[in-house]
Amino acid sequence: MQIQSLQCLQERNVLTMPNIQGKVVIITGASSGIGEATAKELASKGAKLVLAARREDRLKKLQEEIQNKRGQAIYKVTDVTSYEQVEELAQYALKEFGKIDVLVNNAGIMPHSFLYKKKVDDWNRMIDVNIKGVLYGIAAVLPSMRERKEGHIINVSSVAGHVVGAGSTVYAATKFAVRAISEGLRKEEIGNNIRSTIISPGAVATELTNSVTDPDLKPSIDEIYKGAIDADSIARAIAFAIEQPSDVAINEMIIRPTRQER
Ligand SMILES: NC(=O)c1ccc[n+]([C@@H]2O[C@H](COP(=O)([O-])OP(=O)(O)OC[C@H]3O[C@@H](n4cnc5c(N)ncnc54)[C@H](OP(=O)(O)O)[C@@H]3O)[C@@H](O)[C@H]2O)c1
Repeated sequence: MQIQSLQCLQERNVLTMPNIQGKVVIITGASSGIGEATAKELASKGAKLVLAARREDRLKKLQEEIQNKRGQAIYKVTDVTSYEQVEELAQYALKEFGKIDVLVNNAGIMPHSFLYKKKVDDWNRMIDVNIKGVLYGIAAVLPSMRERKEGHIINVSSVAGHVVGAGSTVYAATKFAVRAISEGLRKEEIGNNIRSTIISPGAVATELTNSVTDPDLKPSIDEIYKGAIDADSIARAIAFAIEQPSDVAINEMIIRPTRQER
């Protein structure tokens, strides 16, 4: 009887032992900003990384940097607006590492503008990258996670997924959608032991604001981003969510600069 209890305890310890070591993590948008910082953070904690984005030179450089510090990383050039390419990314991870523990759906763009300016191409691109890209990622990793009855999908939303500002309407719509998708995913996959996490950053110093070309908005955005925090802050939050015991799901985190009001 005592031996049985000990075994139970040991099994629970294995199940709930906090760790990142050895976990296979796909990160989209790994070529800069939050994705890149997350890759470095997780690599330093022993994750096996599959880096994805469109800029191969950046991915290659990041892979080399991680490998030079004895971390493990492979990469695949991927445009998340292509369902086929995202599916190939997941298959590549499975072929190289045999499993997918975590997907960080991080790729995103933010070409803010006022609606009356009718920047329809920008609206379409945001919908394609920020919403469809996230859905394609989920679709690509779910089958193997459901089969293993284990997995974790982390979707990067935004404070703009909680608050809509003038000029950020379409971007906010995509980030509200990311939160809706994440919550639906959470409810649908509870029975398959698949965790879902929404990460909602405030202003973070990355290349994201480069896509804002509207001269009427650029000054106010530059002002907000004067107080931006480092991408490492978000990387640490993502690592925290991953390293929780598998029976604990961090479902959402909002991470703002302390001085950010909205
Ligand atoms: N920075 C902030 O203040 C902030 C705040 C809230 C939320 N976020 C969210 O955080 C996420 C990361 O953004 P970031 O701030 O780190 O900006 P970033 O430095 O511009 O990074 C964006 C990443 O997305 C990738 N990407 C863009 N389009 C893609 C596509 N079609 N296919 C594959 N990858 C694509 C980019 O890589 P390639 O160009 O090489 O493809 C890049 O690696 C985004 O979802 C963003 O909305 C950021």
